[in-house]
Amino acid sequence: TYVVTENCIACKHMDCVEVCPVDCFYEGENFLVIHPDECIDCGVCEPECPADAIVPDIGDPNLGFWLEINRKYAELWPNIIVKGTPPDNAEAMQDVPNKYRDLFS
Ligand code: SF4
Ligand code: F3S
Repeated sequence: TYVVTENCIACKHMDCVEVCPVDCFYEGENFLVIHPDECIDCGVCEPECPADAIVPDIGDPNLGFWLEINRKYAELWPNIIVKGTPPDNAEAMQDVPNKYRDLFS
């Protein structure tokens, strides 16, 4: 599966949802997740994200945390298939540290 990681938090550009062939993105207030059981590993969304927040879950031992976040919230949040309006300060929030600790919602 592909996994949405911390860089998405408070950036939420949503370009990813427009290209997913199986519509497996789910929407929180300032973050999206991918449903790990629905993602078909096509990889199309990865280059679409301006924040480089989407990564494949291969070869990265630190990704387990984010995989569980994606799995948990994909069951709780509504499906999103159409790009909405990103936050006004999406660019400014890119690469800000500790976004999960301070801002995740
Ligand atoms: Fe959707 Fe493909 Fe991205 Fe998986 S890798 S979330 S199927 S666009
Ligand atoms: Fe987030 Fe990137 Fe999608 S910032 S909403 S993963 S395009």
